[in-house]
Amino acid sequence: MPDIKVAASILCADFTRLGDEIKKCEDAGVDMIHVDVMDGHFVPNISIGQVIVEAIRPITKLPIETHLMIENPWTYIDEFIDCGADVISIHAECYGQRREGCQNYGEFPKEVDSINIQQAHQDIKRIKSKGAAAVMVLNPGTPACLGGVEGDLDGILIMSVNPGFAKQKFMPSVLSKIVELRQSFKGDIAIDGGVNEHTAPEAVKAGANVLANASYFFGSEKPRDVVKYLKSLG
Ligand code: DX5
Ligand code: ZN
Repeated sequence: MPDIKVAASILCADFTRLGDEIKKCEDAGVDMIHVDVMDGHFVPNISIGQVIVEAIRPITKLPIETHLMIENPWTYIDEFIDCGADVISIHAECYGQRREGCQNYGEFPKEVDSINIQQAHQDIKRIKSKGAAAVMVLNPGTPACLGGVEGDLDGILIMSVNPGFAKQKFMPSVLSKIVELRQSFKGDIAIDGGVNEHTAPEAVKAGANVLANASYFFGSEKPRDVVKYLKSLG
């Protein structure tokens, strides 16, 4: 069993005291700060961006992952790395022909059946050439269609909810995708969405080793116990 890494998504942090919330992550033993960047186009919500990454960069040594739920992510790769992101997570759904029913503005969730390997490879290479780690994210309805780029990636992130909001219900249907990917992929496999004490064991059993969560960690009175428990699953 691999070591489990815990990523705390600050989407559920108290933004009036963000510095204290980052400190809370550190004290609790979190491995990574997960920043959910949403543009209101790729997902039906708008959240936070570069200024927040810039604000937290000087106050923590923890790696910062930017989960880019945005259209045309390539437009912002350099900027997020320059702001201090260590990990850039880009969505497969930005690299392929979208399924019918999610091609237009306001139609969610975005899903694809395959990706343009060359285009994805180019952005992954760009992320890595700037010294950051590259992660490809799959929405629940998108199959494990990474074929040609798997070998270039530092990690794969499996969404276990349709992206856009915290506090949603975990979709167990994505577990088989983790099992499938784990057969060949040796890098980090992360799960994001609805991760809590009930769902995390299933995700780890399927092969995930990075557990991203927002409401479970920030909603707990005992964040240190949350991290301890999640890590005990490894
Ligand atoms: C969803 C985000 C998740 C979200 C997780 O679009 O990508 O990272 O913040 O929130 P919880 O853990 O509450 O499901
Ligand atoms: Zn996320």
